[in-house]
Amino acid sequence: MDNMRFTLTHHILRHQSTHPGARGEFSALLVQIASACKVIGAQCRTAGLGSLMGNSGAVGHHGDEVKRLDKFANDAFAHHFDHTGLAAAIVSEEMEEPYLPAGESEKARYVVCYDPIDGSSNIEVDVTVGTIFSIQERADPSRAPRMEDLLRPGTHLLAAGYVLYGPATVFVLATGTGVDAYTQDPRTGDFLLTEHGMRIPGRGPVYSVNEANYRKWDAGPRRLVDALRQGGVGEMKTTRYIGSLVADFHRTLVKGGIFCYPGETGKPEGKIRILYEAAPLAFVAERAGGAASTGKGRILEVAPREVHQRTPIFIGGAEDVADAVRILGG
Ligand code: AHG
Ligand code: MN
Ligand code: MN
Repeated sequence: MDNMRFTLTHHILRHQSTHPGARGEFSALLVQIASACKVIGAQCRTAGLGSLMGNSGAVGHHGDEVKRLDKFANDAFAHHFDHTGLAAAIVSEEMEEPYLPAGESEKARYVVCYDPIDGSSNIEVDVTVGTIFSIQERADPSRAPRMEDLLRPGTHLLAAGYVLYGPATVFVLATGTGVDAYTQDPRTGDFLLTEHGMRIPGRGPVYSVNEANYRKWDAGPRRLVDALRQGGVGEMKTTRYIGSLVADFHRTLVKGGIFCYPGETGKPEGKIRILYEAAPLAFVAERAGGAASTGKGRILEVAPREVHQRTPIFIGGAEDVADAVRILGG
């Protein structure tokens, strides 16, 4: 039965054949993302055996330690678009400025944003990390890319998703048609379709937040977490917090519930970055029937003013998120 499953590539090509005008660029872009993530996943699995564990010694432009694997994954992903003409510009967590792929890429139709390794502090303790990405089409591909091509709200995304490097390597892809998951078969390296049309339950059994930050929050997030502790948001919930957004989100997608990373007093934007963390996962959540809010509005409607801008995030089942937003507002 296993060998009857669709591979990701087959699924992409089938989808392309239903769009008669398609020139195959979007399909090729997805295939390159999958290929980059296979390389990153293989490195994650063997990092402890070689020299890719630990800090690179550099401090990134966000002020965080850059892990060796962050740097490797960033470069592997970006170079998958050199000399392909597929992406006009690439925004990565690990690059202060957008990357313009080598070769004739100026007039490429797409822009890609990514977090090469999300949850990188979990690598050294062998806990799940992942790669998050989004794809948008440029309004005007006949000219060189400009900053305004990158700073658009997530309502313009064509596709988004992530790859989890966990007990299994799983590729979750959201497009206009819905959300599917592909599990990597370690025998062949192929991503095989394992979940079609994923839906987040409206309410779920888990809330996920770094409660050690309670003392740093304003009244709104404190009120919300008090309510979550007391069963005041849907059913009585238990708590799980992995510390890799991508893994905490994946559990939320599969089992339901809510993930929160609120802003803090004096740091109202919180920690999670819009273009390559919040917006792609918000796109996945909405395509799966869930919701994602800043606490004040839809994450997908936020147009960032700069590429590394952050946002508070409340993401998960539609009813759990609606309740959370109501409680946050008092
Ligand atoms: P990254 O590894 O890409 O820098 O992201 C880390 C993020 C995110 O994955 C996670 O949800 C969050 O940091 C955890 O932050 P705290 O340690 O503050 O809870
Ligand atoms: Mn991250
Ligand atoms: Mn990262």
